[in-house]
Amino acid sequence: MTYNGPPVDLSARIDDRADTDGEFRVHRSVFEDPALFEAEMEFCFERVWNFLCHESQVPEPGDYRAAHIGTQPVFVHRQEDGSLKAFINACSHRGAVLTPLQEGNATTLTCRFHGWSYRCDGSCIGIKNEEGGYGPGFDRSRYNLTELPRLASYRGFVFGALTADVPSLDQHLGDARFFIDLFADQSPDGLEIVPGSQTYVCDHDWKLQADNVTDGYHVSTVHRNFMNTILAREDREQTSGLLKTEVGRIKGGVRNGQYYLGNGHMCIWAERTSPEGAPLAPATERIDREFGPVKAEWMLRRGRNILVFPNLVLNDLASTHLRTHRPLGPGRCEVTIWCIAPRNEPREARFARLRKFEDFFLVSGLSTSDDVVSLDTAQEGLRGPDAGWNVYDRGLGDMVAGPDEAAGEAGLSPVSSGGSWDHEACYVGWYRYWRDLLEDGSHAHVSMAAE
Ligand code: FES
Ligand SMILES: [Fe+2]
Repeated sequence: MTYNGPPVDLSARIDDRADTDGEFRVHRSVFEDPALFEAEMEFCFERVWNFLCHESQVPEPGDYRAAHIGTQPVFVHRQEDGSLKAFINACSHRGAVLTPLQEGNATTLTCRFHGWSYRCDGSCIGIKNEEGGYGPGFDRSRYNLTELPRLASYRGFVFGALTADVPSLDQHLGDARFFIDLFADQSPDGLEIVPGSQTYVCDHDWKLQADNVTDGYHVSTVHRNFMNTILAREDREQTSGLLKTEVGRIKGGVRNGQYYLGNGHMCIWAERTSPEGAPLAPATERIDREFGPVKAEWMLRRGRNILVFPNLVLNDLASTHLRTHRPLGPGRCEVTIWCIAPRNEPREARFARLRKFEDFFLVSGLSTSDDVVSLDTAQEGLRGPDAGWNVYDRGLGDMVAGPDEAAGEAGLSPVSSGGSWDHEACYVGWYRYWRDLLEDGSHAHVSMAAE
């Protein structure tokens, strides 16, 4: 979606007095504005790296996985030589999506509409009734699929961009790499996405979905019901060991923190009160030995929620969770969830991880439905001409530029550190980044058009 509107000016819709008065507000109209949505698709999605899939989802030649960059369907395809390519997921003839399923295996993709076919390197190799349909000199290669100009992996996480003009993936990820490593290093055999996923459509804007990832403030209200239900169940069933669910962070009173990491990435964390119940606990001795006290502390004894801008969520809480969100329109988004796990973990650890994943994250579980309802009602409340402002100034007095003690120990350089995970400091950096992408990108567009 190419944005053709006027340069975006958010000065009247972001009240940024964080550094002077400790106040930061975002006008609620930004969550339901069709013109802004169009600009977001180009400048917040199409012109940045997006998460597409995990390599474990496409292990064999011919394996494909469908994804989106903003509203653009794309797919990743494992080549016959083992490399990865990604393409626009639209037939060159009249645009039908080519992948028959969200994921599958096919060395040749044949369009369901009129039967054109493509090899997995994107070349058009078959046009139904080609003879007699086109003139002499017809060149089938003009109809090869459009390959994404940028595709790269970090520790098995595959990212793509629709424009070549993006920084390296390492530059984009920055300190988010540390938090991805905390997952990727959990098994010497790497990670895998456990087969099976859920996808659900939400009546709220993609930004509300994204900013909820690092909203520690909602946990003790929205998820109190989850905690009380789980505690009652565990008491009744006398649950023990790995099957016990970590609820200490919901109760509160544990050491915690939050970071705005730059480039739109955010993190909150909280110490685990019962690390012996985490699915990774059986690997404690190896991880302590292999990674040293600081990194092992993060891997084993701190729960973490990470947003990798714009569309990847990684949570390591009572269970582990990978999530993507994609915008469907202003005020609507689609979310897909998977359990991500260390390969070859002990059977009892995988069993516990899956049961706790189902408890919290499945739509039919005890928490995701509460999150979705809270966010949907927030969207409902912000509609209309008197929408007012969302307030993100909780704890700004404690926000520090750069790393706090925990980040410093890990060698991280966040843009800002918040004093507590139920503060709102990370949103200052996040909404400033979002604003700058829109304003800088759309202004550059206009000057390019004028040349
Ligand atoms: S749209 Fe694919 S063959 Fe016609
Ligand atoms: Fe939540």
